[in-house]
Amino acid sequence: MNPFPSLQQAETRIKQLRKEIIYHEKKYYRDNNPQVSDFEFDSLMLELRKIEENFPELLTPESPSQRVGEQPLEGFASIKHSTPMLSLDNCYNSKELKKFEEKTQKSLPSQKIEYVTELKIDGLGISIIYRGGKFTRAVTRGDGIRGDDVTANVKTIKSLPLTIPEKNYTEVRGEIYLPFHSFQKINRTRSKKNEPLFANPRNAAAGSIRLLAPKIVAARGLDVFLYSVYIGEQEQKSQWDNLKKLKALGFKTNPFSSLSSSHEEIMEVYEEWQKSRENFDYDIDGIVIKVNNIEQQKILGHTSKFPRWAISLKFAARQATTKINNIVVQVGRTGALTPVAFLEPVKLSGITISRATLHNEDEIIRKEIRKGDTVLIERSGDVIPKIVSVMKEKRTGQEKVFTFPTLCPVCQTKIFKPKGEAVSRCINPSCPAIMRKSLLHFASRRAMNIEGLGDALVDQLIKKKLVIEIPDLYSLTLKDLDKLERMGRKSSLNLLDEIIKSKNQSLFRVIFALGIRYVGERTARILVSHYKNIKKLIESEPDELLAIKDIGPKVSESIVFFFKQPENIKLIRKLEAAGLNFSSLESSSRENTYLDGKSFVLTGSLSSMTREQAKEKIENLGGIVTSSLSHKTNYLVAGKAPGSKLQKAQKLGTVTLSESKFLDLIREK
Ligand code: IVH
Repeated sequence: MNPFPSLQQAETRIKQLRKEIIYHEKKYYRDNNPQVSDFEFDSLMLELRKIEENFPELLTPESPSQRVGEQPLEGFASIKHSTPMLSLDNCYNSKELKKFEEKTQKSLPSQKIEYVTELKIDGLGISIIYRGGKFTRAVTRGDGIRGDDVTANVKTIKSLPLTIPEKNYTEVRGEIYLPFHSFQKINRTRSKKNEPLFANPRNAAAGSIRLLAPKIVAARGLDVFLYSVYIGEQEQKSQWDNLKKLKALGFKTNPFSSLSSSHEEIMEVYEEWQKSRENFDYDIDGIVIKVNNIEQQKILGHTSKFPRWAISLKFAARQATTKINNIVVQVGRTGALTPVAFLEPVKLSGITISRATLHNEDEIIRKEIRKGDTVLIERSGDVIPKIVSVMKEKRTGQEKVFTFPTLCPVCQTKIFKPKGEAVSRCINPSCPAIMRKSLLHFASRRAMNIEGLGDALVDQLIKKKLVIEIPDLYSLTLKDLDKLERMGRKSSLNLLDEIIKSKNQSLFRVIFALGIRYVGERTARILVSHYKNIKKLIESEPDELLAIKDIGPKVSESIVFFFKQPENIKLIRKLEAAGLNFSSLESSSRENTYLDGKSFVLTGSLSSMTREQAKEKIENLGGIVTSSLSHKTNYLVAGKAPGSKLQKAQKLGTVTLSESKFLDLIREK
């Protein structure tokens, strides 16, 4: 029953609820100072959603219930910035900063100059526009002149107000970032799903802001600090006033900005944040020093790239010293042996580090790394940090020289190190370590897509000897799965279902799943379009492979090598016997050859489907979608507002398809 019989009553309650929700969102997301429990907050939102559902005429895009759009996006339009989004010149030490200050003083003779220091957030620059007090558009920095319209995704950032108490045209600029705790959560989930990890929060933020599903973006936990504001014709007098104005309008600004009037004061600020940068929940890579007075900023002006009134003073590379407790050699999917140093845990840019890769045997010899050594480690953007150097002066004599094993540490087979290569390999395909990685790859989303077959389960299957080689997966029974820990009946049934379903995957996925070195998804598709079944591929000669466009000597050699190994042929026979699809002309995959490796580029927006859907359709028919046009492109599909790609296609003579022609083509079969 609807508790609000009249529109007016509903409107009054909606207004009240929105006000309360906006207040609590600000307190929670902007000020870090929640006033109510999550449950109370959720109840308010639920009530608002219910009334809006009953009175759709009262729904507005600025309602706090409307942060997350349900519809997937088609792509991102390119938008020109009102004024270029400049970058910052960098300096690295006190001397270089002094030079900047002297140059600035020279351009403003005998004027007193005050500076604002701000943290330099390592994220993505963003410009956000409000019209009539309403959140209207958000554009990435892009190349500084044009950026991508990411409005729907930025709208999901909960600390960002959807309305502001300023009716004039307002543009704010700032930095979108991903807090460390959200970054770690995303990577944990990706690791469970066997998906590639993001190297750092910045990459994860950049990847997230370009997702086509705002719902997924909302769950990523992005946040934003604003640092500049332009309101119609009015202007603040100083950067400090800008920050104050931003706060007054309801924006989140970074709380660690300060005013300095001498070089020494700035350096003190720098030292302080450099020392404590590990304590922030977000990545900072330096401080930004800005001339405070806007009149002075105008006199100083800017170059084509940087303002002359600001500079960033970068922190030194993130390094720490710690001890190597142990050195362990790990075996990867391709059998490559990688030595890994297990470290005394140490905090480095917000992340606790307990291992570092030592790459290979030669690296250990070159850097003279010993077990027990005190080492300098560095994170240069990657998840796995590296060892910069050994602090030999800290040696006590207890350190142990590490001898690289001659046998695989997991299966004890003699290891193989090809002449001239730095990497040693285990070449026993039934080595449990290789099996583990191969099985995870085989089951991964882009390969056989066996949902639920993640790390923990694979470990148990191997440990309990239920799966010794991949084909064993296809003879697993409910009784087998009952032996596993934390596997209820329902999960077991689901897993068996998924395994059976995977038998219908098309040939290119099966080939990709085999894990042939250098054969990714795209190469697998190309191979399928040339060899309609596995038999022909197995028999192919190197020259024949090399004649295929896009297959080079390294790939061809690796394919030939793979099929020369008798155990790989045995594996394929067993998978065939289990019922997997080894011919592209069979059952479900018949349609997969229709577009036969033809390559497509999509541009502009389509009205009957999203770009993602178009891509899927093309790929399901055996075609390939790439992002940039070249003479190898067979078709350009041009939707609405196609942009510069259309002209390029005309120059290259690429066949251009309108949306309806494209639909005809994919329906033709
Ligand atoms: S001011 C014209 N302030 O760093 C003024 N930028 O390396 C330029 N950034 O493109 C920007 N924190 O995306 C400014 N407190 C801060 C910043 C900041 C991070 C980013 C910004 C800029 C990049 C330059």
